[in-house]
Amino acid sequence: MSQGPVDVAAVGDVPDGGSIRVEVAGTPVCLVNLGGTFHALHDTCTHARESLAGAYIDGDRIECPRHGAFFSIVTGEAITPPATTPLPTFGVTVEGDRVLVDPTPSHAHPFDI
Ligand code: FES
Repeated sequence: MSQGPVDVAAVGDVPDGGSIRVEVAGTPVCLVNLGGTFHALHDTCTHARESLAGAYIDGDRIECPRHGAFFSIVTGEAITPPATTPLPTFGVTVEGDRVLVDPTPSHAHPFDI
């Protein structure tokens, strides 16, 4: 059974240029605010399972704090090693001051978590 978008946070919960970890239907998601536009990525690095929420952000890239792989915040692409597999992404909508995330990922996480 498909599930509709999940209310995960208030707009003001995520600082511009920052990220927080939220749960969407049991999946850990890194919710990022880039200049007022929200993006949602699977929170678990595809290299060795590090959490990405709160990690260093450089432009539209986020750096895994464990081994330094960069991922595109917009597409989930693994930009630099040691990660080689893209992060799943999730659709985001903003309604009023609430941020909603679609629980269906762009693709399965390689660790299936
Ligand atoms: S755990 Fe993320 S780069 Fe290794």
